[in-house]
Amino acid sequence: MSEWTIGIIGGSGIYAIDALEGAEWIDVDTPWGPPSDQLLTGRLGDVRFVFLPRHGRGHRIPPGEVNARANIHALKAAGCTDLVAISAVGSLREELPPGHFVVVDQFIDRTVARPHSFFETGLVAHVSMADPTCERLSALCAAAAERAGASVRRGGTYLAMEGPQFSSRAESLMYRQWGCDVIGMTAMPEAKLAREAELPYALVGMVTDYDCWRGAGEKVEVAAVIAQLMANADTGRQLVVELARSLPARREPSPVDTVLDAALITSPDARD
Ligand code: ADE
Repeated sequence: MSEWTIGIIGGSGIYAIDALEGAEWIDVDTPWGPPSDQLLTGRLGDVRFVFLPRHGRGHRIPPGEVNARANIHALKAAGCTDLVAISAVGSLREELPPGHFVVVDQFIDRTVARPHSFFETGLVAHVSMADPTCERLSALCAAAAERAGASVRRGGTYLAMEGPQFSSRAESLMYRQWGCDVIGMTAMPEAKLAREAELPYALVGMVTDYDCWRGAGEKVEVAAVIAQLMANADTGRQLVVELARSLPARREPSPVDTVLDAALITSPDARD
């Protein structure tokens, strides 16, 4: 068995990974409440995977109500060493059409109504988010997505919005001026919490639409988004299969594995 256990957070359109061997849905509870669904554990070759559908099977949970603390806690407790998040995103760039995959490497977080940290009164920690994604895992995901047949952009900035409404045209145009490439409602606070949980994190955005910035009359249509995310989902699932095939047998340590060593501020005497 390899030393990797890859947690997969499946976004809209990806509610299971059929290729998993020995697959079993398991219940996990956490101090933060229940995660979005049971966890699906299994193997691809000798790599262990733990899959969680972010919105729950049947897409029951809206973006603002995803309990990201419970989800990340559950994946950590299930033994994950690394997390790959797969998310439907809108495009803010002409050259990233629907169907394109973007392996994100930066975020701007505009979510406002979600708990953003595991650390609360009594235990204070400040982790760095300067480089919010894992370069090693992102490169493996990009190569796997290409082998799965996707057109892939390596790197890009993700604007995390609160939703559930889509953006106004003025907001969409502003996000372009800010240098953002894609937009979505779910990667934050997930990416921040993964860092606090010392889990290297990669985000594969699957483009479903052009958002509304392209001109008067342009708007995001849910029916078109759903059709595109169903078209993307097979490639997203195949990416996971390709990732399993290409992981190095040995997992070298990541700096993220021990990020809390230098992040806790509360003195040890005050902790219990
Ligand atoms: N998810 C998919 N498309 C989106 C868009 N245009 N805005 C926000 N989230 C999205």
